[in-house]
Amino acid sequence: MKKRIAIFASGSGSNAQKIMEHFKRSDDAEVALVLTNNPDSFVLQRADNFEVPSHIFDKKEFYETEKIISLLKNLNVDLIVLAGFLWLVPQNLLKTFPNKIINIHPALLPKYGGKGMYGERVHKAVLEAKETESGITIHFVNSEFDEGEIIHQSKFRIDKSDDLEMIKFKIQQLEHQQFPKVIEGLLKKMKS
Ligand code: GAR
Repeated sequence: MKKRIAIFASGSGSNAQKIMEHFKRSDDAEVALVLTNNPDSFVLQRADNFEVPSHIFDKKEFYETEKIISLLKNLNVDLIVLAGFLWLVPQNLLKTFPNKIINIHPALLPKYGGKGMYGERVHKAVLEAKETESGITIHFVNSEFDEGEIIHQSKFRIDKSDDLEMIKFKIQQLEHQQFPKVIEGLLKKMKS
C-alpha cells in the first residue's frame, strides 16, 4: 500500500506543487489531500491540476471540531505536511498524529522562528541582522510555533549583494529541492 500524505497550505502552494510533482511518479507514496484555510489560495488550483482532492476549512472547524481528524483518518493519512500553513496545530490533531506532522520554515531555526515569523518577515529580519548565512529547516510540529525536533536543515551563504528578492529566491530553491526528498526519507523510515 502506498503511504499517504496530506498537505496543509495557506498561500501560493509552490512547495505543495513540488511535493505533488515528486510523488506523482512514486510507487511508494501519494498526496491524498490538500487542505487550506484560505479559499483564495492558489494551492487549490495546483491540487486540481494534479487531480488531488482538496478541503477548505475555517478556524471554527479546525479548532472546535473533529471533522478534519476524521477526514485524515478516513483517508488513512500517514504524514501531514505543513507547507506555508500559519496556524498553530491544535492538541487533538497533534495527539492523533504523534510525530507525523512536519513543517518547513524559511530560516535556520531556532533563530528567526516563532509567532508572526513567516515569509518575507523572516528574510527581512535575517538581512537586518546582517547574517552571513541563512537556510531552511524542516521539523516536527508541536504545540509551539517552530519548536519541534529538527529533521533537516540546509544552508547557503548570504553574499553582500543579496537583497530580499535574492534571499527569497535562494530559500525557495532550497525548499523545492529538499522538501520532497526529506518527506520521502521520513516515509521510508515509517513502519508500514
Ligand atoms: C515557504 O517559504 C515556507 O517556508 C513558509 O511559507 C512559504 C510558503 O511558500 N513558511 C513559513 O514561513 C512558516 N513559518 P509556498 O506557498 O510557495 O509553498
